[in-house]
Amino acid sequence: MKFDTPATTNPIDQMKVVGKPTPRIDGRFKTTGTAPYAYERHDVVANQAYGWIIGSPIAKGRLTAIITDEAKRAPGVITIVTALDMPRVERGSKNTAFLFGGPEVQHYHQAIAVVVAETFEQARDAASLVRVEYKRSPGRFDLQKEAINAKPVGADSGEGSGAPPIDEDGDFEGGFASAPVKMDETYTTPDESHAAMEPHATIAAWEGDKLTLWTSNQMIAWGKSDIAKSLGIKEENVRLDSPYIGGGFGGKLFIRADAVVAALAARAAKRPVKLALQRPLIANNTTHRPATIQRVRLGATPDGKLTAIAHESTSGDLPEGQPETAVSQTKLLYAGANRLTAMKLAELDLPEGNAMRAPGEAPGLMVLEVAMDEMAEKLGIDPIEFRIINDTQVDPENPDRPYSQRQLVRCLQEGAAKFGWDRRSAKPGQVRDGRWLVGMGVAAGFRNNLLMKSAARVRLGADGRVTVETDMTDIGTGSYTIIAQTAAEMMGLGIDDIVVKLGDSDFPAAAGSGGQWGANNSTAGVYAACVKLREAVAQRLGFNSGDVDFTGGQVSSGGRSVALKDAAQSGELVAEDHIEYGDLGKTHQQSTFAGHFVEVAVDAYTGETRVRRMLAVCAAGRILNPISARSQVIGAMTMGVGGALMEELAVDKRIGFFVNHDLAGYEVPVHADIPHQEVVFLEEADAMSSPMKAKGVGELGLCGVGGALANAIYNATGVRVREYPITLDKLI
Ligand code: MOS
Repeated sequence: MKFDTPATTNPIDQMKVVGKPTPRIDGRFKTTGTAPYAYERHDVVANQAYGWIIGSPIAKGRLTAIITDEAKRAPGVITIVTALDMPRVERGSKNTAFLFGGPEVQHYHQAIAVVVAETFEQARDAASLVRVEYKRSPGRFDLQKEAINAKPVGADSGEGSGAPPIDEDGDFEGGFASAPVKMDETYTTPDESHAAMEPHATIAAWEGDKLTLWTSNQMIAWGKSDIAKSLGIKEENVRLDSPYIGGGFGGKLFIRADAVVAALAARAAKRPVKLALQRPLIANNTTHRPATIQRVRLGATPDGKLTAIAHESTSGDLPEGQPETAVSQTKLLYAGANRLTAMKLAELDLPEGNAMRAPGEAPGLMVLEVAMDEMAEKLGIDPIEFRIINDTQVDPENPDRPYSQRQLVRCLQEGAAKFGWDRRSAKPGQVRDGRWLVGMGVAAGFRNNLLMKSAARVRLGADGRVTVETDMTDIGTGSYTIIAQTAAEMMGLGIDDIVVKLGDSDFPAAAGSGGQWGANNSTAGVYAACVKLREAVAQRLGFNSGDVDFTGGQVSSGGRSVALKDAAQSGELVAEDHIEYGDLGKTHQQSTFAGHFVEVAVDAYTGETRVRRMLAVCAAGRILNPISARSQVIGAMTMGVGGALMEELAVDKRIGFFVNHDLAGYEVPVHADIPHQEVVFLEEADAMSSPMKAKGVGELGLCGVGGALANAIYNATGVRVREYPITLDKLI
């Protein structure tokens, strides 16, 4: 089905199942330990051997020898495969780092060998007997130092927030020079790690030429083609299966060393191999959100109209890598003439930088929304009012491109009323509660709604139940549930009548989980398949009219009513289709919006920050399931607290690695750290987004929330920190 004109009324609009607060179908399995994750798929294939990955002890240089004699004699060892046994394997289409093979080392903890043994303990033990010899080369590990060599680079991000290297609209320098009120500040954001609960893990098995990977991956179709490319095998000989995933956050968008190495190890061992990236390897072996240095310059008239906006960002990556698109939202979020955005990339020899939840916007809004707060203060205008003055209903660089919907102003106004913004002291450092300094902050949240092709297959069985099959993944987001809701609504059934099967590359290819595009696109694909199934049902039941109603397990038209399951008595009915998009994503700017509000208390003596309250008012199209959508947003808000206060991969600038590479050293907050989080969804249905009229929310909750928190800390203390995260040493 091609979606190229705005959606009209359709069966989803009934909202009998869609839009109802529905607990996650997989929730029970996950919380009772009965949802098998990749490493726990003990029964999918017999005779599984265990792999243990050895990571490079140097960040840059050349391996000269990997000595395995002693390890090979250790109990239980089946085989050892080293990087020196084979040339570099081809990279996947979306990776910068090479995942295995060859003597060259690109980054610390790059996989350089795998030990395969009968048991996990034997593999680990034997790995400790492997000796590695190398010649270290000097590396570039310090972004601040390398920034002077950074070059302008554009991006076509894996999550779609592309941007040219330099983009000027009007005359920024002129506009800025003549602006009556100006601000010009530079900020930094650190390297961050996805820190998903479930490690990257894969069980690999060969059957002749055919390879099956039971793995943990957000994007099954990308993974399938990247594995084929990496191993030089045919795509049709690869199967990936990933029904349950314990968090991805972008770290599992692309295949990683676990998948490639498990496949190579299984080939060498001539039996299935199971392995996980050991926790201490993950931060340096996989990707991370790259650190940025961002300069923002704003110019405005005394009444608060922006007349010059510049946002420039420098980040680092391996050679041939890509920049963090921290300036993308600045092209769209506020009105104002004379605009400049620019990105520069410095070559570094740290592990690969790549997408982490809300890539671009998370660090970009962390900075832009603090800059807006600083400018509002200079102007003596309330920060909410300042944002409202500069609202736009069109793409500011292309005024003939309207937003499909944009309710940012309402998000801010309703949030202000609900949060008690009128109790905020405009002057910082004024509110005291015992030893605590108390403050409130606000920020705009903004993240694009991306349209992606997505397919599904639906089957109506003789029992009247409908099974949905699609390679869409559920990374903890609620895909199972919203897909079941969609099929139930379309077929006139209850949610218990739907079986959802996900994550298998043998199923039709869905949009996958990334860039908050999963919900809208994957359900729209299911919608398209259900439209076909309805046609097949109507035809088999002998209804000729186009006006057939599917309700309560009955199919009715023209006064006649037949049980839906009757359509499958003479054999299962199967329908398959996909959603694809025309130009509505080009003619209209499709985005999601939030007003983020945070209240903090900062200890006047120690600088310790406690988050007291958070509120997000979101405008993100039709909300398919208020429970799973809320969970997405509060999870993202919590992640934003981590970004603002705690998360930082500490770089050892001599040796070139992330020092705090486990969950003890890399701290993230949990929900229990924040006593009160509230989420409000504005009533919306966006006819431009898809027949579902939905958009994404998974990243919106993270976008801007760190800025709101930083602004609250300033309001509490009068200390403006521009180097994130805001650890307590920076407040005293
Ligand atoms: Mo994307 S960084 O996987 O949400």
